[in-house]
Amino acid sequence: MRSLNTRETDVYMADELAGDLAALMAPYQKEKIFVVTDVHTHQLCFPAISALEGISEERCIVVGAGDGAKNTESLIQIWQALVEGGATRHSLLINLGGGMPCDLGGFAAATFKRGIDFINIPTTLLAQVDASVGGKTGINFMGYKNEIGSFMQAKHVLVDTALLQTLDGPNLLSGFAEMIKHAYLKDEALLERTLAFDFENYDAKELSELVAASIRLKDEVVTADPREKGIRKALNLGHTIGHAFESLALKRRQPVLHGYAVAYGMVAELYLAQQKLGFPGELVQQLRSYVDKVYGRFAFSETDFDELYQTMTHDKKNQAGRMNFTLLRAIGDIAINTHCERDEVLAALRAYLAPQS
Ligand code: GLY
Repeated sequence: MRSLNTRETDVYMADELAGDLAALMAPYQKEKIFVVTDVHTHQLCFPAISALEGISEERCIVVGAGDGAKNTESLIQIWQALVEGGATRHSLLINLGGGMPCDLGGFAAATFKRGIDFINIPTTLLAQVDASVGGKTGINFMGYKNEIGSFMQAKHVLVDTALLQTLDGPNLLSGFAEMIKHAYLKDEALLERTLAFDFENYDAKELSELVAASIRLKDEVVTADPREKGIRKALNLGHTIGHAFESLALKRRQPVLHGYAVAYGMVAELYLAQQKLGFPGELVQQLRSYVDKVYGRFAFSETDFDELYQTMTHDKKNQAGRMNFTLLRAIGDIAINTHCERDEVLAALRAYLAPQS
């Protein structure tokens, strides 16, 4: 395995998943190691590590799949299994799965006996470049996403892009949207390389290198601001409008994957950045053409503006009733806490709706 020499989260790119995990598990007592996974990943990915000494079906905690299972019931299921399985303060929890098992298992580890070590093995692209790195753990509560949680860094994150072979096209694209976001935050070279990635002639080595670059960018930001007091808000690029699109789609019972909503949201927020901060128009058009082609277009109309705006007013980045966005002045030139008025936001939504020039 190859260390990415990241600072806040200790991330490795796997060469051979089972052997690499065995090395990371070596300091722990074998009968004190537990795995958290969901029903799908248990079937698809658990066999890749199940033969290792220290990994056992009895100490594999299988929770329900999907964001709906990121709840108190699953958390209690994990705590109970840890207690019943004789876990101690020196136990290790291995979270194997997408963002949900990583967030949930991380929170269970952060709270069990005031904190035990955990290793994330993210199995989706979204989790590899985002959820598994950076120390955010938690569950949804009373209808609010990630309402209860804590910051706690994984002891290690082991990323194996070969696991992505089990991922369907839309889920791959969903994670890729976060990589595009990271590239906008980093620089032109990474953006150019990312947008040039060819999904038709999938080059696994190129994807692995882009994933590594994306994780490094995320770790750089998290290292500068682990608790999201400032620059970590940069990671919310595309998410304020993106979350509003995601909520609207969910309400219509036509859910869109998170990364698709972020891709649409990034286009709308680059229009906002052009308007507010002079972000170059030709670069907005470049992203718009790319997103239209690869992700399609989010269908909504002016009649949805009130509802979309209302959802945005609940965004965590708002302060004292002011609507704040993470925007860009240029690629890599980040402007967090950019206050935007309702008219400006609606103008950006109108620009998204307008036919492409
Ligand atoms: N997903 C954004 C963050 O980790 O801060």
